Amino acid sequence: MTEDTNQTGQTGQTDDTQHTDRADAGAPSRRSLLGWGGAGLALGAAAAGGAVAMARSDSGDDVVPAGATGAAVAFHGAHQAGIATGVQDRLHFAAFDVKTDDREEFVTLLKEWTKAAARMTAGHAVGEGAFGGLAEAPPDDTGEALGLKPSRLTLTIGFGPSLFEKYGDAFGLTGKRPKALVDLPKFPGDNLDPARGGGDLCVQACADDPQVAVHAIRNLARIGFGKVAIRWSQLGFGKTSSTTPEAQTPRNLMGFKDGTRNISGTDGKALAEHVWVGAKDGPDWMVGGSYLVARRIRMHIETWDRTSLQEQEDIFGRDKGEGAAVGKAKERDEPFLRAMKPDAHVRLAHPRSNGGATILRRGYSFTDGTDGLGRLDAGLFFLAYQRDVRKGFIPVQRSLAASDALNEYIQHVGSAVFAIPPGVRDTNDWWGRALFTGKA
Ligand code: HEM
Repeated sequence: MTEDTNQTGQTGQTDDTQHTDRADAGAPSRRSLLGWGGAGLALGAAAAGGAVAMARSDSGDDVVPAGATGAAVAFHGAHQAGIATGVQDRLHFAAFDVKTDDREEFVTLLKEWTKAAARMTAGHAVGEGAFGGLAEAPPDDTGEALGLKPSRLTLTIGFGPSLFEKYGDAFGLTGKRPKALVDLPKFPGDNLDPARGGGDLCVQACADDPQVAVHAIRNLARIGFGKVAIRWSQLGFGKTSSTTPEAQTPRNLMGFKDGTRNISGTDGKALAEHVWVGAKDGPDWMVGGSYLVARRIRMHIETWDRTSLQEQEDIFGRDKGEGAAVGKAKERDEPFLRAMKPDAHVRLAHPRSNGGATILRRGYSFTDGTDGLGRLDAGLFFLAYQRDVRKGFIPVQRSLAASDALNEYIQHVGSAVFAIPPGVRDTNDWWGRALFTGKA
């Protein structure tokens, strides 16, 4: 057994010896990762005195050397990984519907999922592994990630409004739905497909290797068989935002740098102010958690590709090459909003245009084949984390939906909102424990 310590000084046990190890011998151990992350650890310790601690020691590219994409991200901590931690290259997002009204059965599933998630994020196979067990029973693990490194896999769970509405009585959740977990209003231009939205639960799997992310969702679905079923899912590639400002800003499918002005995963002050649920926000079981809005946004790629460069740049209010705001030279120069067209995306989305509303964006591009009309079914799977949806996504989207010049080229086709509980503290803790036991 090894022991690892996260930014809050809590310790967690990682069983490295008993089970089939998924990663090859060359993969960095979590202890060596913490060694690289010394700088982040110090920062984390400094912030830990506050009500909410800041990003993990192994929060991402800032502490993990370039090329170390095989590394593991700590699973245990005050906050769930996959929010402030460094954004990985790939996504498999799944929304589940609950299929049991037996509280005990559901709680047991959450505990089993937590155990499996801790193992998979550390690069281990689930349970006794993919082979070598009872010949008469299906293996504990499906096997396709054998030999692959942890790939910075993070697994982030969320609870949807329908969990509280449908299972309030059965699961003892009546009155526990957070006020901030609102049903999103209908925005002008929405063309939402119910088959691509909602969900009682969600799991966001992010990793640098798509097979590792898909393996994780598949194994959670397998463990949940008969108790939960996948309602919809989304694969993503090419992160469209960064939580590590020193890294090169990625580009979205429209060819523009995306994520220039985003909350940094090491900015403890901004995270506490805009992302993590605070002690006074309520309910108690959500303190240290966050709220996630997921929107599948289709892009009319073919129309965009026939649009002039000048118009494209006017639409965003930034230039395509450098990513600088109108009238500015460098990507990071502070935007002067009034130099942009009144309907420019950046002008309308900027916190100063929305009473300070600030969100942490963590979206991915997607291409799901074609639509039968010769057009790509492609776009942005937009993921935004915030402390309160009513003060984050809703005001920003209200102003975008009303006037954004980009609307001619995009359509929101899927939507979901989830309460993201705080992190799993140690090996005795489990996803959703505070919600189900009433003890934070
Ligand atoms: C397909 C849809 C979208 C595309 C292609 C897109 C693209 C972009 C780009 C290129 C930027 C400028 C670079 C940056 O600072 O990140 C930007 C900024 C931003 N976008 Fe979007 N975006 C989309 C949808 C949305 C939605 C739905 C929201 C929220 C409701 C949003 C919120 C923001 C915010 C808050 C900023 C930063 C504004 C600032 O502080 O300057 N975006 N987006």
